[in-house]
Amino acid sequence: MTAAIQSAHPERTILAVRHHTETLFSFRVSRPAGFRFRAGEFVMLGLPGPEGRPILRAYSIASAPWEEFLEFYSIKVPDGPLTSRLSKVAPGDEILLKSKTTGTLVADALAPGGTLWLVATGTGFAPFASIIRDPDTYERFDHVVVTHTCRTAAELSYGEDMVRDTLAHPLFGEIAAGRLTAISAVTREPTAGLAGRITDLARSGALFDAARRPRWSPERDRIMVCGSTDMIKDLRADVEAAGFAEGSNAAPGTFVVEKAFVG
Ligand code: A2P
Repeated sequence: MTAAIQSAHPERTILAVRHHTETLFSFRVSRPAGFRFRAGEFVMLGLPGPEGRPILRAYSIASAPWEEFLEFYSIKVPDGPLTSRLSKVAPGDEILLKSKTTGTLVADALAPGGTLWLVATGTGFAPFASIIRDPDTYERFDHVVVTHTCRTAAELSYGEDMVRDTLAHPLFGEIAAGRLTAISAVTREPTAGLAGRITDLARSGALFDAARRPRWSPERDRIMVCGSTDMIKDLRADVEAAGFAEGSNAAPGTFVVEKAFVG
Protein backbone atom coordinates (compact mmCIF):
# COMPACT_ATOMS: atom_id res chain seq x y z
CA MET A 1 0.00 0.00 0.00
CA THR A 2 1.28 3.47 -0.81
CA ALA A 3 1.92 6.03 1.91
CA ALA A 4 -0.77 8.29 0.43
CA ILE A 5 -3.49 5.64 0.74
CA GLN A 6 -2.35 4.72 4.20
CA SER A 7 -2.75 8.27 5.46
CA ALA A 8 -6.17 8.71 3.83
CA HIS A 9 -7.42 5.32 5.10
CA PRO A 10 -5.65 4.44 8.33
CA GLU A 11 -5.40 0.75 9.17
CA ARG A 12 -7.20 -0.82 12.12
CA THR A 13 -6.51 -4.20 13.65
CA ILE A 14 -9.20 -6.88 13.70
CA LEU A 15 -9.83 -7.93 17.31
CA ALA A 16 -12.48 -10.62 16.80
CA VAL A 17 -14.68 -12.19 14.12
CA ARG A 18 -17.92 -14.14 14.60
CA HIS A 19 -19.68 -16.10 11.87
CA HIS A 20 -23.42 -16.23 12.55
CA THR A 21 -24.64 -18.14 9.49
CA GLU A 22 -23.15 -19.17 6.13
CA THR A 23 -23.77 -15.63 4.91
CA LEU A 24 -23.63 -13.38 7.98
CA PHE A 25 -20.66 -12.37 10.12
CA SER A 26 -19.61 -9.62 12.49
CA PHE A 27 -16.20 -8.28 13.41
CA ARG A 28 -14.60 -5.93 15.88
CA VAL A 29 -11.73 -3.56 15.22
CA SER A 30 -9.65 -1.41 17.51
CA ARG A 31 -11.16 2.06 17.93
CA PRO A 32 -8.87 4.91 16.94
CA ALA A 33 -8.13 7.45 19.68
CA GLY A 34 -10.56 10.33 19.27
CA PHE A 35 -12.92 8.39 16.95
CA ARG A 36 -16.34 9.83 17.80
CA PHE A 37 -19.74 8.97 16.34
CA ARG A 38 -23.44 9.19 17.08
CA ALA A 39 -25.35 5.91 17.48
CA GLY A 40 -26.86 4.99 14.08
CA GLU A 41 -24.09 6.48 11.92
CA PHE A 42 -21.98 4.69 9.31
CA VAL A 43 -18.34 4.88 8.23
CA MET A 44 -16.42 3.80 5.13
CA LEU A 45 -14.27 0.71 5.63
CA GLY A 46 -12.57 -1.83 3.44
CA LEU A 47 -9.40 -3.49 2.21
CA PRO A 48 -6.59 -2.58 -0.17
CA GLY A 49 -7.63 -3.41 -3.73
CA PRO A 50 -5.85 -3.97 -7.03
CA GLU A 51 -3.28 -1.35 -8.07
CA GLY A 52 -3.24 0.13 -4.60
CA ARG A 53 -6.82 1.40 -4.89
CA PRO A 54 -8.77 0.60 -1.74
CA ILE A 55 -12.19 -1.07 -1.94
CA LEU A 56 -14.37 0.74 0.58
CA ARG A 57 -18.06 0.37 1.51
CA ALA A 58 -20.32 2.16 3.94
CA TYR A 59 -20.86 0.15 7.13
CA SER A 60 -23.16 1.08 9.97
CA ILE A 61 -21.42 0.99 13.32
CA ALA A 62 -23.09 -1.72 15.45
CA SER A 63 -21.24 -1.02 18.68
CA ALA A 64 -22.42 1.64 21.11
CA PRO A 65 -20.69 5.03 21.28
CA TRP A 66 -19.32 4.21 24.76
CA GLU A 67 -17.64 0.92 23.74
CA GLU A 68 -13.86 0.73 23.39
CA PHE A 69 -13.97 -1.16 20.09
CA LEU A 70 -15.95 -0.71 16.87
CA GLU A 71 -18.21 -3.54 15.72
CA PHE A 72 -19.66 -4.15 12.26
CA TYR A 73 -22.23 -6.65 10.98
CA SER A 74 -22.01 -7.82 7.38
CA ILE A 75 -23.43 -10.10 4.76
CA LYS A 76 -21.06 -12.27 2.69
CA VAL A 77 -21.70 -11.86 -1.01
CA PRO A 78 -19.85 -14.80 -2.64
CA ASP A 79 -18.60 -12.74 -5.59
CA GLY A 80 -18.70 -9.39 -3.78
CA PRO A 81 -15.38 -7.60 -4.29
CA LEU A 82 -15.20 -6.60 -0.63
CA THR A 83 -17.31 -8.95 1.49
CA SER A 84 -15.93 -12.14 -0.11
CA ARG A 85 -12.49 -11.09 1.22
CA LEU A 86 -13.63 -9.32 4.38
CA SER A 87 -15.43 -12.45 5.56
CA LYS A 88 -12.04 -14.23 5.65
CA VAL A 89 -10.26 -11.78 7.96
CA ALA A 90 -8.96 -13.06 11.31
CA PRO A 91 -7.84 -11.42 14.54
CA GLY A 92 -4.57 -9.54 13.96
CA ASP A 93 -5.37 -8.73 10.31
CA GLU A 94 -5.77 -5.11 9.31
CA ILE A 95 -8.55 -3.31 7.49
CA LEU A 96 -8.90 0.27 6.28
CA LEU A 97 -11.21 2.59 8.18
CA LYS A 98 -11.98 6.20 7.40
CA SER A 99 -12.43 8.62 10.25
CA LYS A 100 -15.53 10.53 9.08
CA THR A 101 -18.86 9.15 10.27
CA THR A 102 -22.25 10.25 8.97
CA GLY A 103 -25.82 9.08 8.48
CA THR A 104 -29.49 9.85 8.78
CA LEU A 105 -30.50 7.23 11.38
CA VAL A 106 -29.69 9.49 14.29
CA ALA A 107 -31.87 10.68 17.14
CA ASP A 108 -31.01 14.29 16.19
CA ALA A 109 -33.07 13.85 12.98
CA LEU A 110 -36.22 12.98 14.94
CA ALA A 111 -38.49 15.07 17.12
CA PRO A 112 -37.95 13.87 20.71
CA GLY A 113 -40.45 11.96 22.82
CA GLY A 114 -42.93 9.22 22.14
CA THR A 115 -42.16 5.67 21.04
CA LEU A 116 -39.13 5.09 18.83
CA TRP A 117 -39.68 2.25 16.33
CA LEU A 118 -36.52 0.74 14.83
CA VAL A 119 -37.52 -1.25 11.74
CA ALA A 120 -34.79 -3.49 10.28
CA THR A 121 -34.50 -6.25 7.73
CA GLY A 122 -31.34 -8.39 7.40
CA THR A 123 -28.07 -6.57 8.16
CA GLY A 124 -30.10 -3.37 8.51
CA PHE A 125 -30.18 -4.30 12.20
CA ALA A 126 -26.59 -3.02 12.68
CA PRO A 127 -27.25 0.68 13.41
CA PHE A 128 -30.05 -0.32 15.77
CA ALA A 129 -27.68 -2.52 17.79
CA SER A 130 -25.85 0.72 18.57
CA ILE A 131 -28.99 2.77 19.19
CA ILE A 132 -30.60 0.32 21.65
CA ARG A 133 -27.39 0.31 23.72
CA ASP A 134 -26.99 4.08 23.81
CA PRO A 135 -28.34 5.49 27.11
CA ASP A 136 -29.15 8.75 25.27
CA THR A 137 -31.87 6.87 23.34
CA TYR A 138 -33.77 6.30 26.59
CA GLU A 139 -33.31 9.94 27.58
CA ARG A 140 -34.95 11.10 24.36
CA PHE A 141 -37.75 8.58 23.87
CA ASP A 142 -40.27 7.10 26.28
CA HIS A 143 -40.23 3.64 24.75
CA VAL A 144 -38.20 1.78 22.08
CA VAL A 145 -39.52 -1.03 19.87
CA VAL A 146 -36.92 -2.75 17.70
CA THR A 147 -38.21 -5.01 14.92
CA HIS A 148 -36.06 -7.37 12.87
CA THR A 149 -37.37 -9.34 9.89
CA CYS A 150 -35.26 -11.93 8.08
CA ARG A 151 -35.85 -14.80 5.71
CA THR A 152 -34.97 -17.45 8.34
CA ALA A 153 -34.80 -17.73 12.12
CA ALA A 154 -31.03 -18.34 11.96
CA GLU A 155 -30.58 -14.89 10.44
CA LEU A 156 -32.18 -13.32 13.52
CA SER A 157 -29.48 -14.56 15.92
CA TYR A 158 -27.19 -11.51 15.87
CA GLY A 159 -30.07 -9.17 16.67
CA GLU A 160 -31.37 -11.48 19.40
CA ASP A 161 -27.90 -11.59 21.00
CA MET A 162 -27.75 -7.80 20.94
CA VAL A 163 -31.14 -7.40 22.60
CA ARG A 164 -30.21 -9.99 25.26
CA ASP A 165 -26.89 -8.21 25.96
CA THR A 166 -28.67 -4.87 26.22
CA LEU A 167 -31.18 -6.14 28.75
CA ALA A 168 -28.42 -7.86 30.77
CA HIS A 169 -26.14 -4.80 30.77
CA PRO A 170 -25.07 -3.96 34.35
CA LEU A 171 -25.40 -0.17 33.92
CA PHE A 172 -28.50 0.44 31.84
CA GLY A 173 -30.07 -3.00 31.47
CA GLU A 174 -32.59 -1.99 34.08
CA ILE A 175 -33.63 1.16 32.21
CA ALA A 176 -33.90 -0.77 28.96
CA ALA A 177 -35.78 -3.66 30.60
CA GLY A 178 -38.91 -1.61 31.14
CA ARG A 179 -38.62 0.44 27.96
CA LEU A 180 -37.27 -1.80 25.18
CA THR A 181 -39.51 -4.20 23.25
CA ALA A 182 -38.03 -6.54 20.63
CA ILE A 183 -40.14 -8.07 17.86
CA SER A 184 -38.75 -10.48 15.29
CA ALA A 185 -40.36 -12.13 12.26
CA VAL A 186 -39.35 -14.53 9.51
CA THR A 187 -40.63 -14.66 5.96
CA ARG A 188 -39.40 -17.86 4.34
CA GLU A 189 -39.78 -20.70 6.80
CA PRO A 190 -42.38 -21.89 9.28
CA THR A 191 -42.12 -20.33 12.71
CA ALA A 192 -43.86 -20.48 16.06
CA GLY A 193 -43.43 -16.70 16.24
CA LEU A 194 -44.43 -13.90 13.89
CA ALA A 195 -44.36 -14.69 10.17
CA GLY A 196 -44.43 -12.24 7.28
CA ARG A 197 -43.03 -9.02 5.93
CA ILE A 198 -42.95 -6.06 8.31
CA THR A 199 -45.07 -4.03 5.89
CA ASP A 200 -47.80 -6.69 5.95
CA LEU A 201 -47.53 -7.09 9.73
CA ALA A 202 -48.00 -3.33 10.15
CA ARG A 203 -50.92 -3.18 7.71
CA SER A 204 -52.71 -6.14 9.34
CA GLY A 205 -52.05 -4.80 12.84
CA ALA A 206 -50.21 -7.98 13.93
CA LEU A 207 -47.12 -5.87 14.63
CA PHE A 208 -49.00 -3.61 17.04
CA ASP A 209 -50.67 -6.54 18.77
CA ALA A 210 -47.26 -8.16 19.29
CA ALA A 211 -45.72 -4.91 20.58
CA ARG A 212 -48.83 -4.14 22.67
CA ARG A 213 -48.87 -0.62 21.30
CA PRO A 214 -51.35 1.36 19.20
CA ARG A 215 -50.98 1.80 15.44
CA TRP A 216 -48.38 4.29 14.22
CA SER A 217 -49.35 7.91 14.52
CA PRO A 218 -47.02 10.86 13.83
CA GLU A 219 -48.11 12.55 17.05
CA ARG A 220 -46.98 9.65 19.22
CA ASP A 221 -44.42 7.62 17.25
CA ARG A 222 -41.00 8.10 15.61
CA ILE A 223 -39.74 5.57 13.06
CA MET A 224 -36.26 4.65 11.80
CA VAL A 225 -36.03 2.22 8.87
CA CYS A 226 -32.95 0.32 7.66
CA GLY A 227 -32.54 -2.66 5.35
CA SER A 228 -33.73 -3.89 1.97
CA THR A 229 -34.28 -1.17 -0.64
CA ASP A 230 -37.70 -2.55 -1.57
CA MET A 231 -38.80 -2.71 2.06
CA ILE A 232 -37.73 0.89 2.61
CA LYS A 233 -39.65 2.02 -0.49
CA ASP A 234 -42.85 0.25 0.58
CA LEU A 235 -42.66 1.23 4.23
CA ARG A 236 -41.90 4.85 3.32
CA ALA A 237 -45.05 4.99 1.20
CA ASP A 238 -47.13 3.59 4.08
CA VAL A 239 -45.79 5.91 6.77
CA GLU A 240 -45.99 8.97 4.53
CA ALA A 241 -49.61 8.08 3.81
CA ALA A 242 -50.14 7.93 7.58
CA GLY A 243 -48.84 11.50 7.92
CA PHE A 244 -45.20 10.93 8.93
CA ALA A 245 -42.63 13.48 7.68
CA GLU A 246 -39.03 12.56 6.88
CA GLY A 247 -36.52 14.21 9.20
CA SER A 248 -32.91 15.30 8.77
CA ASN A 249 -30.18 16.65 11.01
CA ALA A 250 -31.16 20.17 9.94
CA ALA A 251 -34.92 19.65 10.23
CA PRO A 252 -36.00 16.88 12.61
CA GLY A 253 -39.13 14.96 11.56
CA THR A 254 -41.09 11.87 12.51
CA PHE A 255 -39.28 9.21 10.41
CA VAL A 256 -35.87 8.58 8.83
CA VAL A 257 -34.59 5.84 6.50
CA GLU A 258 -31.27 4.38 5.45
CA LYS A 259 -30.34 1.74 2.95
CA ALA A 260 -28.21 -1.15 4.26
CA PHE A 261 -25.08 -1.17 2.16
CA VAL A 262 -23.75 -4.49 0.91
CA GLY A 263 -21.32 -5.67 -1.76
P1 A2P B 1 -39.21 -11.89 1.69
O1 A2P B 1 -38.55 -13.14 2.16
O2 A2P B 1 -40.71 -11.98 1.63
O3 A2P B 1 -38.63 -11.35 0.41
P2 A2P B 1 -33.34 -9.85 1.84
O4 A2P B 1 -32.73 -11.08 2.49
O5 A2P B 1 -33.78 -10.06 0.45
O6 A2P B 1 -32.53 -8.60 2.05
O7 A2P B 1 -34.68 -9.60 2.67
C1 A2P B 1 -34.67 -9.41 4.05
C2 A2P B 1 -36.07 -9.42 4.54
O8 A2P B 1 -36.76 -8.28 3.96
C3 A2P B 1 -36.85 -10.65 4.09
O9 A2P B 1 -37.57 -11.14 5.20
C4 A2P B 1 -37.72 -10.12 2.98
O10 A2P B 1 -38.96 -10.79 2.85
C5 A2P B 1 -37.98 -8.71 3.44
N1 A2P B 1 -38.43 -7.86 2.33
C6 A2P B 1 -37.94 -7.82 1.07
N2 A2P B 1 -38.61 -6.94 0.31
C7 A2P B 1 -39.56 -6.39 1.11
C8 A2P B 1 -40.58 -5.42 0.90
N3 A2P B 1 -40.76 -4.82 -0.28
N4 A2P B 1 -41.37 -5.11 1.95
C9 A2P B 1 -41.20 -5.71 3.15
N5 A2P B 1 -40.26 -6.64 3.40
C10 A2P B 1 -39.45 -6.99 2.40
